[in-house]
Amino acid sequence: MTDWRDRLTVPRAGFIPSVIWDDDPITGGFHPVFKEREPERWHGMVAADEPVTTQVDDGTESVGSVGFLPTSSCSKPSVVADMLDALDVRTGHRVLEIGTGTGWNAALLIDRAGRSGRVVSVDVDPRVTEGARGALATEGYFPLLVTADGVEGYPAEAPYDRVVATASVRSIPPAWLDQTQAGGLIVAPWGTDYGEDALTRLRVQEDGSASGHFGMRLAFMRVRGQRRNFLDPTDGELLGAERSATARSGRELFEMLDFEHAAFTIGLRVPHCYPTVVDIDEKHRHVELHDVHSKSWARLTLVRDEHPWIVHQLGPRRLWDEVEAAYTWWSDTGRPGPGQYELTVTRDGTHTVRVDAAGGVLSWNIRV
Ligand SMILES: C[S@@+](CC[C@H](N)C(=O)[O-])C[C@H]1O[C@@H](n2cnc3c(N)ncnc32)[C@H](O)[C@@H]1O
Repeated sequence: MTDWRDRLTVPRAGFIPSVIWDDDPITGGFHPVFKEREPERWHGMVAADEPVTTQVDDGTESVGSVGFLPTSSCSKPSVVADMLDALDVRTGHRVLEIGTGTGWNAALLIDRAGRSGRVVSVDVDPRVTEGARGALATEGYFPLLVTADGVEGYPAEAPYDRVVATASVRSIPPAWLDQTQAGGLIVAPWGTDYGEDALTRLRVQEDGSASGHFGMRLAFMRVRGQRRNFLDPTDGELLGAERSATARSGRELFEMLDFEHAAFTIGLRVPHCYPTVVDIDEKHRHVELHDVHSKSWARLTLVRDEHPWIVHQLGPRRLWDEVEAAYTWWSDTGRPGPGQYELTVTRDGTHTVRVDAAGGVLSWNIRV
């Protein structure tokens, strides 16, 4: 495979705003880096093969303060190159991008689609689209930029040959299927609430459904309407939690949380379950499971050199029990990895996965 630098026709520096956000080790959030004040640091971050955060907390932060949630960024260059390759844009293609961000990927799409092609890019945040518009014009690129919710696609310019999302989704919007030509491709970071996303490449069929396999692990921000959320039970609620112990080992727990091992499968079998891991101190770690829909929650308390671990569960679902059962299923079914699954999405929004595992071909609909 060619080095990513050779697959990206436009340098990204011209698209990065003068204020970017870097990890803040003290708060666990992000603090601003000003190009004028710290030019070497700014250029170093932009040159690295890493994402650059360009907005936090939906732009509500006051510059100079600390932000907590990255809400717009310029993606990691090597990942941008891999996603563009997966999208397979040809000269003359009509392309819809969801998530304009800095506008860099829109410029790269224009280079691939050529003068006879058409690139439409949608971002939900008007300040983001305005910033991208300025950068793109300065660099000599003029895609159609739209401020709108990208889950609706952009029907006015449909049908498209290619649809690419640069924010991740749990549910592939039916509008993307409707607006893509039969034979066209939809490429998106897709994942359940459980764990990381996979690069997903769906080919649209004559009946308007789309199918494809999962590829590499990705870490993208979610589209605004599909963000994951956690619960924070009060001390009083904790007192009422069901208490048990688990004999699972550290290796098993690692596999339950790791994308290449069981995590992807667990997400496909346990709907609406968001795991978080927090180190409390040098000895204690909490693994928590959150379902904000049913208000169910579980906590596994890991204590160094002590075993078995204690589990607390609250709410109508027993999330830890569900995750354990899904892990057992994964172990008993030949430990399928993400790449063994195929996803089919139909125009009514049904998501079906299919896997050729030990015991034959299995298929089920997932709640998204
Ligand atoms: C990782 S950034 C995109 C990177 C971009 N392609 C680039 O080249 O810089 C994700 C973007 O998705 C946007 N976004 C989030 N939810 C969205 C939605 N529902 N519709 C459209 N854009 C959305 C965010 O505002 C953010 O700018």
